[in-house]
Amino acid sequence: MASIPALKTEQKTRPRASYQDLRDYLRIIDERGDLKRITGADPNVELGTIAELMAERSGPALLFDEIKNYRPGYRVAVNVTTPPRRTAIMLGVEPDQPLLGMVSEWRSRLKTFSAVPPEPVKQGPILENVALHDKVDLSQFPAPVWRDKDGGPYIGTGCCVITRDPDEGWCNLGSYRVQLHEPNLLGCYMSPGRHGLLIMEKYWSRGENAPVAVSLGHDPSLLFWAGSHVPHAGESEYDAAGWMKGKPVSVLPGPVTGIPIPAEAELVVEGEVPPPWKESREEGTYGEWTGYYGHPRAPEPVVHVKSVLYRDDPINYGALPPYSVSKPSITGSAETWDAIERAGFPDIRGVWIPTHSRGIVVVGITQRYGSHARQVGAFVAATAYMGRFVIVVDDDIDVTNLDEVMWAVGTRCDPMTCITLMDGMRSSALDPRLPPEKREKRDFTNSIAEIDACRPFNWRKTFPVVNKVSQEIRDAVEKKWADLFTSISR
Ligand SMILES: Cc1cc2nc3c(=O)[nH]c(=O)nc-3n(C[C@H](O)[C@H](O)[C@H](O)COP(=O)(O)O)c2cc1C
Repeated sequence: MASIPALKTEQKTRPRASYQDLRDYLRIIDERGDLKRITGADPNVELGTIAELMAERSGPALLFDEIKNYRPGYRVAVNVTTPPRRTAIMLGVEPDQPLLGMVSEWRSRLKTFSAVPPEPVKQGPILENVALHDKVDLSQFPAPVWRDKDGGPYIGTGCCVITRDPDEGWCNLGSYRVQLHEPNLLGCYMSPGRHGLLIMEKYWSRGENAPVAVSLGHDPSLLFWAGSHVPHAGESEYDAAGWMKGKPVSVLPGPVTGIPIPAEAELVVEGEVPPPWKESREEGTYGEWTGYYGHPRAPEPVVHVKSVLYRDDPINYGALPPYSVSKPSITGSAETWDAIERAGFPDIRGVWIPTHSRGIVVVGITQRYGSHARQVGAFVAATAYMGRFVIVVDDDIDVTNLDEVMWAVGTRCDPMTCITLMDGMRSSALDPRLPPEKREKRDFTNSIAEIDACRPFNWRKTFPVVNKVSQEIRDAVEKKWADLFTSISR
């Protein structure tokens, strides 16, 4: 496997994923004018509403301080790595380029993936404050009720739940939301099959409580990997973050569980999770990445907190769905693009997943043979997760520009002959459109439409010509009249 390319830290305008920790990342985006400090917000819905309104406008990241009822300095950062320009900085790709360039750059970076295991250290800022057992009091750290329909305060939204496999010893980091029930009791929602849950189940099957550490504020690369599918099985998210950063993540053993925790984290708790059949609490509801409240309020596992470790003036990493994730757009598009090419389809020009949910995938191709578009569309549809529409367009369409994509659908697609419906595809319990009767039977499948919005291959050469000035003339005129166009966005 190829080695990791050297990171160019000196390029100020082109930051790589070489930020030291969350504070350093925030400094980098602050220098770009992309961070706003806010004081005096009410954690009860107001803070979350500000975050939502700002995310809708693709505004700066927000750092809330002097939050009502909390000590000054006990902060919450929100909208940290979205929209794409901040995702790019988190990933370490060029932020000042077209979206498809970010996807392409991340694709080629991923090809250099190799595990970089964490480095054990003895000291780190996370040890600045340590409270054990009956000294634990989580009520001092901001736990916003993010939205008016949320079922309670959530202290962990951009968090990393760290578990250690009792048989094999490897550590898993998964991002699973964490509700604050009491000053020393948390609730956690893990979907079936999550690695963190599978590891906990191993302890439970032996009649033991599962030890756990939860990082509530940390380097954004850790959340990215905790919320992602790690490309190589059996490797920890720590290893993936180490690769992305170009150096190992520093970890030290949690004082109660011994689980490796990030030495430069902001706020970490450790505790024990009893088997849910012995103890659980009503959890939720909480707005999810699909843009809905999909999972009903229900009994879920609890964490009895035994230690809390935090830096001076800790920052809680807030991640408000659906704006919480850098995915799927840049990284999800890159993964889908790779999968299509690995399957052997030629001349893929771009892939874009335009929404926070994964319901729509747009693929751009240069058509090479009659069934090219249909095959690519069918492949993407068949391998999608919670997909609804796969749209294949010609290479003159910018897949990241929905106006252009819809124009292609509206002018090149004959619905009777160019749309294929497939049923029984992979969906999820969080799918808002899953019919109640299917949900009852735990039949988590849906249908997908594959839409061929390319010019018909056999008469593509006689298809009406697009009435745009040709590219060379456009480029020349744009250059000559640069002053006229630079300040006007497309
Ligand atoms: C910000 C964020 C919040 C998430 N919240 C949850 C959650 O509450 N429950 C859950 O099961 N998955 C949640 N996910 C998805 C998982 O973190 C994701 O599927 C991850 O790959 C799981 O890792 P694992 O396979 O190691 O369990 C969230 C992801 C992100 C990025």
